[in-house]
Amino acid sequence: MYFYRDQYTKAMANEKAIREAQEKYGALLRKQLERVERLKAEGDWVDYGKLDKIIIGVCGGDGIGPYICASAQRVMEFLLRDEIKSGKVEVRVIDGLTIERRAAANKAIPDDVLAELKECHLILKGPTTTPKKGDEWPNIESANVAMRKELDLFANVRPVKVPELGIDWVFFRENTEGSYALGSDGIHVTEDLAIDFTVATKQGTERILRAGFDHAAKTGKNYVSVITKANVIKTTDGRFLDLAAEVAKDYPGVRWDDWFIDILSAKLIDPSRRSDYKVFVLPNLYGDIITDEAAQIQGGVGTAGSANIGKRYAMFEAIHGSAPRMVSEGRAQYADPSSMIKAVAMMMEHLGKAEEAERLEMALEVCVQFERKLVMTGRPNGATGNEFADYVMETIQRPDLRKAWEGYVKAAGKK
Ligand code: IPM
Ligand code: MG
Repeated sequence: MYFYRDQYTKAMANEKAIREAQEKYGALLRKQLERVERLKAEGDWVDYGKLDKIIIGVCGGDGIGPYICASAQRVMEFLLRDEIKSGKVEVRVIDGLTIERRAAANKAIPDDVLAELKECHLILKGPTTTPKKGDEWPNIESANVAMRKELDLFANVRPVKVPELGIDWVFFRENTEGSYALGSDGIHVTEDLAIDFTVATKQGTERILRAGFDHAAKTGKNYVSVITKANVIKTTDGRFLDLAAEVAKDYPGVRWDDWFIDILSAKLIDPSRRSDYKVFVLPNLYGDIITDEAAQIQGGVGTAGSANIGKRYAMFEAIHGSAPRMVSEGRAQYADPSSMIKAVAMMMEHLGKAEEAERLEMALEVCVQFERKLVMTGRPNGATGNEFADYVMETIQRPDLRKAWEGYVKAAGKK
């Protein structure tokens, strides 16, 4: 008798939990469908060449962020010195994207900071601390993830190059959907059941695929690998793959294939296969994970830059975190700004300054991998970030830079 009553009570409680979860789920779906309408109405790419003035915001972020960002800002201002002088480019430092300010406002990005960001076109951003459950900070959403959503920075472009191994990859990671879209909106249905959601919209998926295929066509790489786990995640990844087949029809000159994320992770460390790959297009979470692996092959996450590109805004950042320990140990000035400087190269590329971008990339490789006149160790026995930035700027100006770089790459390849 009691047994039945207990079962009944439990069933009633479950039904109540389900109804509550359904309501939350309904609200999430409504929001996503509204988002789809906004995507359908989105305008075309902003042509920076046609703007009277390009505003670049600089946000230092947390931990070592302000240090490495300031070093990268010097390199950026050096490369844009003519545009800054003529007033074509204005650089604005935006404070306030710190974890202290975000925690006080209990928001991923405080409103006033967001308003300032929205006045810019391009943003150079240092790493920001992302609270995780159990931290001293309120469990607010990551500032990165929020900025990508707020500014609709849908393409996370992450190049990885190791010339001496023939590796020249570019990852086009979808940046506003997938498991991240509702990453802070999962539902604790009961104390025994938690559910998260993954989002794929037709519009959101198509535009990242197009960005990847466009890049492959424009650069003459003409080869795209689409990465999913569509054998298991059949609905969202299945759609990603179906849409890839559709989009590919518009690029008859671009060869494409598809791989599952697990085997691709293996192939990236297979010396006999990996240099075949060129351009990858993939959903958010797989892109997050695999780009760290790829960066490690290049020399570590500290060597990789990342561009977050939308049709109106673009944000350039390191792919690593804010390393608070370096600050508490008094070593922040020795933090390596390479990844932020690489992000500057990507910004130059995005601005159409291809030559500056290329020279900066070559200079970075010469300084970090080959010549190594100054070495960053993260400690006082190495160079400071600013000394390193000076070294990079000197190297950019070397008349024999290209020749020197080619020589180094050739010699390294023979080893
Ligand atoms: C990245 C980072 C972020 C992400 C974190 C900090 C939220 O790992 O840019 O890859 O997961 O996207
Ligand atoms: Mg990551």
